[in-house]
Amino acid sequence: MAKNYPKSVRIVEVSPRDGLQNVKAEVPIETKLALINQLCDAGVKDIEVSSFVSPKWVPQMADASDILAQLPARADTKYIVLTPNLKGFDRALECGAKEVAVFAAASETFSQKNTNCTIDESLKRFEPLMQKALDNGIKVRGYTSCVLGCPYKGDVSIDEVVRITKTLIDMGCYEVSLGDTIGIGTPLKAQKMIEAVLQQVSAEKLALHFHDTRGQALANILACLEYGIPNIDASVAGLGGCPYAKGASGNVSTEDIVYMLHGMGIETGIDLDKLVAAGHYITDQLKGTNNSRIAAIGH
Ligand code: HMG
Ligand code: MG
Repeated sequence: MAKNYPKSVRIVEVSPRDGLQNVKAEVPIETKLALINQLCDAGVKDIEVSSFVSPKWVPQMADASDILAQLPARADTKYIVLTPNLKGFDRALECGAKEVAVFAAASETFSQKNTNCTIDESLKRFEPLMQKALDNGIKVRGYTSCVLGCPYKGDVSIDEVVRITKTLIDMGCYEVSLGDTIGIGTPLKAQKMIEAVLQQVSAEKLALHFHDTRGQALANILACLEYGIPNIDASVAGLGGCPYAKGASGNVSTEDIVYMLHGMGIETGIDLDKLVAAGHYITDQLKGTNNSRIAAIGH
């Protein structure tokens, strides 16, 4: 197949949510908001800022309402919050959310561990949420997790990845992000999965959400980019990981993906220097390691 790289890519920055949800120590809200502000200043236009999940399940996200109340007022930036069920959606709506994300998985075991229900129960839960979102003019993004493997069961069925992704689109999600939750995929496997999904859903409605656990994320993303997918989720400093996915570590670093895209002549609208500064800021605050290679060479 001819390489069909997109001319521009929309980056969905997930560090305030995916990047921080797994951090054990409480991160002060001022730090989270400063990170979001710096991401905005770097030109990021889509930011997943928090999640309205159960605070018992993910204590780090317990301040979602306060985050929403204090977001920088920017007409050109879209803020997204994760909502696992109607309860989470209602909380988000009350706080003025304009866009939410629902998440399902292609693995039964992961679905149980992450959301305490089967795959089909999770899809059923989204139906009233989608209806309410439609009634209130709220955009809904979808996730299919474990698209290249499950932390508990290993291989997943590509047919199941396709079924869930198509169901989310048919329900009204404007886009579905395909999650390699535990960064287990390799490029040809990723291409096989994308080719199957593209039989049912067009490239503009798909996003790539690849964790970098085994150092494969850039290679996997490049392999999938050939199919013209114009949306990529990423996290500054390569932060990230799901508390219910054993062994999951960070997302692909936004600095590294932006460097790669710009080098390929693919626009993102992002200022790499400011992005690197944002990654250093949050790493310093967390007293952690910056996993971006571009940040490490002092860009
Ligand atoms: P459950 O315990 O089955 O919920 O959890 P329940 O409906 O039985 O309710 C139990 C209690 O929780 C009740 O309170 C509810 O009100 C409350 P009680 O009566 O005991 O006082 N509750 C809530 N409270 C606040 N917000 C809510 C909410 N829902 C119920 N939304 C549930 C089910 C889905 C809530 C739980 O399993 C959960 O919160 N899971 C989320 C786990 C999570 O956030 N994982 C990480 C995000 S996903 C991810 O990282 C993958 C991704 O990055 C893509 C990829 O990498 O592949 C997106
Ligand atoms: Mg993730």
